[in-house]
Amino acid sequence: MQPSLPGRRPALVVLVLQGLSPGTPALRDGTGRATIHACVAGLGAAGKVLMLLSLGRRTVTEDLVALLLECHGRIRTFVALASEAGRRADLPDDEVRGACLRCERYFSLALPLHVRDEEESLLPRLQGASAEVDEALAAMHRQHGEHEAPIRALLETLQALAAAPGDRGLRSRLNDEAAALGGAFEEHLAIEERVLFPFILARWSHATQAQVLAELRARRA
Ligand SMILES: [Fe+2]
Repeated sequence: MQPSLPGRRPALVVLVLQGLSPGTPALRDGTGRATIHACVAGLGAAGKVLMLLSLGRRTVTEDLVALLLECHGRIRTFVALASEAGRRADLPDDEVRGACLRCERYFSLALPLHVRDEEESLLPRLQGASAEVDEALAAMHRQHGEHEAPIRALLETLQALAAAPGDRGLRSRLNDEAAALGGAFEEHLAIEERVLFPFILARWSHATQAQVLAELRARRA
């Protein structure tokens, strides 16, 4: 189940896919074969595309890039949830505690699996493909390292706030840390979505994509 706080529609999750447009292969092919029902809701500033992904009747995704985009969607969703838990003064303590626990579980258990997907399954197969791909891979790898310290700090704040959800100072710190991490993630995710995912769609054989998809699933078995 996707995380949600009061006032949100639980069947919908809003993703901001920076740097993508409706005509990019990642959107057309990456989600076209999957069971995600995507519609472009509007164009925001700086080329952002707002997508509403209906999760109501979703079945297992069989498409590698669609699955990777789902992982990116979850990163954005949980960063936004952490920020909202810290920012909204009207939220009761039990809502804040619940959001903190869900975010802590995501950032400590699920996100590291996605990083391993990229470092262990994508990077070795993409290296040397082109100068642009190598540059994107170098940035991706460097940023994975740069994210470790702020994620550790976020986890400490989430744990502290879950234990003391009424603490206004901790709520404010959570909002600040989530906002900073969100900015770093957007830059990171945009590189992968602009360079790496379209390359995979255009150049990898069905067999290679299926093999990588199997690796991703094995990590979560
Ligand atoms: Fe990444």
